[in-house]
Amino acid sequence: MSLSRVRGVRDILEEGSKKFEKVLTHFKSTTSKAGYSHIILPTLEESSLFIRSLGDSSDIVSKEMFSIKDQSYVLRPEGTAGTIRAYLMNIPLGEKKMWSYYGSMFRHEKPQSGRFREFYQFGIENISNSISPLVDAEVISLANEVLKELGVESSLEINTLGCENTRKAYCQELKKYFEGKKLSELSRKRLQQGAIMRILDSKEQEDQDIISQAPPIIDFLTEQGLDYYKQVKNTLKELNVEYIENPRLVRGLDYYSNICFEFMKNSKAIIGGGRYDNLGGLVDKSKKMGGIGWAAGLDRICDIISFPENKRPICLIPVGTHNTLKCLQIAQSLRRSMDFEVRIKTEAQSLKQHLGTLKNLNPCFIVFVGDDELAKGLVTVKNCDKGEQKIVKLDEVLGKANEIFKM
Ligand code: HAM
Repeated sequence: MSLSRVRGVRDILEEGSKKFEKVLTHFKSTTSKAGYSHIILPTLEESSLFIRSLGDSSDIVSKEMFSIKDQSYVLRPEGTAGTIRAYLMNIPLGEKKMWSYYGSMFRHEKPQSGRFREFYQFGIENISNSISPLVDAEVISLANEVLKELGVESSLEINTLGCENTRKAYCQELKKYFEGKKLSELSRKRLQQGAIMRILDSKEQEDQDIISQAPPIIDFLTEQGLDYYKQVKNTLKELNVEYIENPRLVRGLDYYSNICFEFMKNSKAIIGGGRYDNLGGLVDKSKKMGGIGWAAGLDRICDIISFPENKRPICLIPVGTHNTLKCLQIAQSLRRSMDFEVRIKTEAQSLKQHLGTLKNLNPCFIVFVGDDELAKGLVTVKNCDKGEQKIVKLDEVLGKANEIFKM
């Protein structure tokens, strides 16, 4: 039997997983300093949640959901709808909440570089009915902050989708514009279904020229909508967040309204988000609740960053017959007192064999724990870079570890 993996999923092994952890730590720490509390959401949700909130003509709902049990449940394709469902089921309506979440999302997309069927997002949602351009700019600037900390150079694209009336007027105009044009089959279908703005999100090659000539939504904004957009842009400038305006950015999900944005790197979005003032009502008709948020694609971010090499370990080698237990005790004490990885060679091997297998670990120090020396309360410490070794009192190794193991 040959082993295989499900298409579009990955095993993220040692170094890759360390990278994920580090990136996640940056996202968590920056957003928690801004007041976001972490929540853990279920991976399984009812399909209807996404149909109602993302829209049945969205790419995700129309072709990318992993359904289970007669299509009643799905592996969540994104975190925002679930967050709002959790809010509506657990929090008194109207209370402001600032939440972050992390986890696997699932979309049945065509796997290719940077696009997986199981991928990981870290997201924040600022849930509140009070709408403020300052909050929007702060939410965007937090994403910018984390990317800067991680050393990721990206370009922030922003746009506004205006209010419902704006979108109605805009869609009428877009419809007129697209009718009679040689669109792709998918876009023609969307035109027929009335999902006009989604055409702007098309990835089909034959649509691109037509889309680039389409009228921009900004021409249809109300005075209020225009002013709101201006205030968000001004605040971003004040916060030193650089952006470019992309009048055709629409983000392809029903729940978005008003401000939307994407951080782009190498023609791929690494973070995407926006305002969703009507999402509460889409999830549960009687509930008016909205907010703004974003989700970062950790797989894509991890693919483009590199961290400095990990700290090298200290290795303990028992030399003699009964010193492995002593090594375990020394390691326990060193790990408590220092921020070092401490490894023990527990295999029944000769000293030569031990030294041979140490090459992969690239230790900074080796401590030899031998019978004769140990009887006198001594061990040998080797500085691997200098190639020097000296006999040291065990008490000193344990009591003054930071001095003994200074590089
Ligand atoms: P999204 O743009 O669909 O937005 O996804 C956010 C990010 O997830 C993308 O920018 C990308 O980095 C990553 N991503 C999406 N699909 C894949 C994939 N197949 N493979 C690898 N990475 C992927 C949302 O999910 C919204 N819920 C964001 C949001 C939060 N809006 C408001 N609040």
